[in-house]
Amino acid sequence: MKLNKKNPFEKIKLDVNLDLIDQCFSNIKLDPYAKGKYRYRALNRYIFKKGEWQLRTIAPLFQSSKYNSLWGDQERKFMELDFRMAMPELAKLFEAFLLRCEVTLEEIEVGVHSIRTLVGYDKPGHPAPEGVHSDGYMYTSIFVIRRDLGIDGAKTSLFKGRDKTGCLFSEVLDPGEALLIDDKSIFHYTSLGTTDLEKDQIRDILAITISPKDENPKMKDSFSK
Ligand SMILES: [Fe+2]
Repeated sequence: MKLNKKNPFEKIKLDVNLDLIDQCFSNIKLDPYAKGKYRYRALNRYIFKKGEWQLRTIAPLFQSSKYNSLWGDQERKFMELDFRMAMPELAKLFEAFLLRCEVTLEEIEVGVHSIRTLVGYDKPGHPAPEGVHSDGYMYTSIFVIRRDLGIDGAKTSLFKGRDKTGCLFSEVLDPGEALLIDDKSIFHYTSLGTTDLEKDQIRDILAITISPKDENPKMKDSFSK
């Protein structure tokens, strides 16, 4: 079934090599825009050309403050991860997602936002510091690649309203699970992660996003809410 206003999300199980994808997180760097030293971030952008997924040149991420209350209306530059060895696995994720989207393959850009949250005994990790939000894309998603067993919390919820009204979903997503979201219809959030263990625990996700290929990112306001 396609994602749309009537069917704004779907939870799926991933049939991919999670370890291979997670190995690509080994060089990920701290998010220079986030407070605290627990959030790591990278961004790769792909288009489908000549029958394959091609990496686009690095470009800053721009989100309107309408969508991102913490980091809106500013350009953010993130590193790219080297996904070459895991590209066949990533392509499977793209395919599973795009099957549920009303898009033409050649007309879209796929963003792969790699986000590592460190959860420490004395420093809880916030997977969504911006709170309940949407991201201004056509479609967004949360693919959980790794979630160490010592993590409590970090529960993902979906709402009809930004003010947490109309809860549609509220569950802990395990490794190998993903939520695909019609970003124009609903809002998402993941709660604080904590741990009783002394060793830092890791939660790695890919937020895979779909947007029109040639869209000027500063035009994100044009999406209706
Ligand atoms: Fe988000």
